[in-house]
Amino acid sequence: MDVELRAVTDDEFEDLLRVDYAAFGSGAPDAEGVAVYRKAVDLDRTRAVFVGGRRVAASAALSLELTLPGVTTVPAAGVTLVGVLSTQRRRGHLRRMMAGLLDDAAARNEPVAILLSSESLLYSRFGYGLASSHTSVEIESRHGALRPSAPDGGGRIELFEAEHAAKVLPGLLDRARRLQPGDLRRPDAWWDAVFINLEKDRKGASQQFYAVHDSASSEADGFATYRVKSEWQSGIHKGRVIANEVVGLTPAAEADLWRFLFSLDLTEVVEVARRPLDDPLRWMLVDPRRLRVTMVGDFLWVRMLDVAAALSARRYQVEATLVFEVSDDVRPETAGRYRLGGGPDGAECRRTTDEPDLALGIEELGALYLGGVAASALAAAGRVTEVRPGALRTADAMLALHPAPFSRTGF
Ligand SMILES: CC(C)(COP(=O)(O)OP(=O)(O)OC[C@H]1O[C@@H](n2cnc3c(N)ncnc32)[C@H](O)[C@@H]1OP(=O)(O)O)[C@@H](O)C(=O)NCCC(=O)NCCS
Repeated sequence: MDVELRAVTDDEFEDLLRVDYAAFGSGAPDAEGVAVYRKAVDLDRTRAVFVGGRRVAASAALSLELTLPGVTTVPAAGVTLVGVLSTQRRRGHLRRMMAGLLDDAAARNEPVAILLSSESLLYSRFGYGLASSHTSVEIESRHGALRPSAPDGGGRIELFEAEHAAKVLPGLLDRARRLQPGDLRRPDAWWDAVFINLEKDRKGASQQFYAVHDSASSEADGFATYRVKSEWQSGIHKGRVIANEVVGLTPAAEADLWRFLFSLDLTEVVEVARRPLDDPLRWMLVDPRRLRVTMVGDFLWVRMLDVAAALSARRYQVEATLVFEVSDDVRPETAGRYRLGGGPDGAECRRTTDEPDLALGIEELGALYLGGVAASALAAAGRVTEVRPGALRTADAMLALHPAPFSRTGF
């Protein structure tokens, strides 16, 4: 039967979503879901597989912007909506779609493609490396006391209705994401989903609350979005605060937001699904062991498409030079030897014939890109080879970075 890979038309878009939802075991997409995705996705960035004229597999890429160490940004293809009908799996449809999406991203001069993976064994084969992780945490509110040295924003916190929050939160987040390696520009459509606040997203919890922090000089400089899950046992409250986001433009604003969440009446526990690995919160707490990590999860997977452009775009912890011998079986045109010279103020990476310092795969280079893992850790795992003695130490000093990469926006 004919197998065709192509972008979908406007008329076919809902059907593309249906394939994806079915692959994830969900029912048909609702009208709000269709509207959100339709707004976020450019039709010419979709890739669907049709077999004998029938659509069987779906995928798309979002035009995103990724913050790099050194607080610069690059355009990034955000691969998403990947799904293959259960009756059509293991026939190479994912492989077909991925080749199409990566070729298209390269043609758009996007130096990297990124994605979140439903299973962490799926995308290494296409050259994606695990570049950032996150933790889920929870703490009993009564153990949430901050140390006296924790910063104090000295401002105030106000609750806003969705309509007003929609005017304030996107701007605040956009400033915050530019300061955080691994973070992404949030598509407007995602904000629509935040503010529509659908009943089905509540999962037994309250409406969403939008709390905005103003600094002492009355400038908005942070926000938290959260729901409360009320529970009473024998007349005693056992409520949970389910914090979706706690974002401060300054550490003081964020500390104030935590104080606020830990003090909410009739609640016992605060949980947050996604926080950075190096969250300062742990270091602010009087009793840090009480902050329980309930999960450590992989988040962004990075696939380099243009090594020279990608490595030239970020900044490095110390001034140094390294030559990488990069292998890439999936896109052999990307393989080769690259010389990177760079530091805190800028960098240049280009192809070279110099002797290599380190040999590694494109997947490993993707994993190192945002500073989320040390080259020496990958070498200890047998995934990076130190060709010139001492090169690993240089790579660790140059590439690893604080803060750890972290994304506030998924896709
Ligand atoms: C995951 C999924 C997209 C794979 O699609 P597919 O068309 O079956 O994949 P392909 O046939 O192109 O397989 C490509 C390779 O990945 C492997 N592979 C695919 N899915 C796999 C899985 N779940 N576990 C292990 N290996 C898998 C295949 O064996 C094949 O291996 P090869 O490189 O040795 O040839 C599909 O099973 C699916 O829709 N799953 C549910 C939704 C989902 O998880 N989507 C991914 C969102 S990030």
